Amino acid sequence: MVRKIIIDTDPGQDDAVAILLALASPEEIEVLGVTAVAGNVPLHLTQRNARMVCELAGRSDMKVFAGCDRPMVRPLVTAEHVHGQTGLDGPVLPEPTMPLQDKHAVDFIIETLRAEEAGAVTLCVLGPLTNIAMAFQMAPDVVEKVQEIVLMGGAYFEVGNITPAAEFNIYVDPQAAAVVFASGVPIVVMPLDVTHKVLVTKARANAFRDLGNTCGPVVAEMTDFFERFDMEKYGSDGGPLHDPCVTAYLLKPELFTGRQINVEIEVASELTLGMTVADWWRVSDRAPNATFMGDVDADGFFDLLNERLARLP
Ligand code: BDR
Ligand code: CA
Repeated sequence: MVRKIIIDTDPGQDDAVAILLALASPEEIEVLGVTAVAGNVPLHLTQRNARMVCELAGRSDMKVFAGCDRPMVRPLVTAEHVHGQTGLDGPVLPEPTMPLQDKHAVDFIIETLRAEEAGAVTLCVLGPLTNIAMAFQMAPDVVEKVQEIVLMGGAYFEVGNITPAAEFNIYVDPQAAAVVFASGVPIVVMPLDVTHKVLVTKARANAFRDLGNTCGPVVAEMTDFFERFDMEKYGSDGGPLHDPCVTAYLLKPELFTGRQINVEIEVASELTLGMTVADWWRVSDRAPNATFMGDVDADGFFDLLNERLARLP
């Protein structure tokens, strides 16, 4: 059965690859719309970048919506130091010509969930959770309509990448993350513990470059740019490809293993703000609210990604 999804995103080179993977897989995934949020860079750039990526995939018919331009409570924190000034530095891509939809992304999420059967739509979240939490707060009736939320965010053993304690997507809008993790919707989490195992080594970047289409070399240029930061930081032989873990999970869940556990979001402490307090060892009596992934078959992941990217223009 084709799975209906909304991609909520702050592109971001790794977001871009995640979107390309979904758009390359129409037999399994129907993308109802792409909703942009402020995160890696401000909203005017993330919505632009989302349209650029859809055009790169030959999908200028895709509906792209702009959502929240700042987190629910805190001021926006961005990550140009990782993604460059545009958020999509690396390849030279044309300015998008496809339109941005007039509707606010949060209204699109609410209206789409209301129009669909309960359990028909999965939310794939690749950035801060602001748009999703706003939809849940503005229209609590849509919460039970969501089939599942699959998100990239948080960390347990790897702890933080933007502060010593917190992963970027959760740190940017911890209040929104807290709303989502308390919502009761089934949640699958791709934390840094998983994404730091999906490394774009030189050989893997060359495999993208050799795909023989337009998208392959563009993806290689994106990962070349994006990985320099993490390679320096972690001393690894390739940068992590975080967000595509979300769309890969939809296509091949068996690539990932994890635990059904309780995950709470720290919203009060200045020191550990945005930390995902994941009860990996089940030492609390708090009820499980998420499937928190811990491992991935990285070779299987890259095989899938290459096979799908090769189908794009
Ligand atoms: C997450 O933060 C962003 O920089 C990436 O796009 C990814 O969604 C990783 O912490
Ligand atoms: Ca992202």
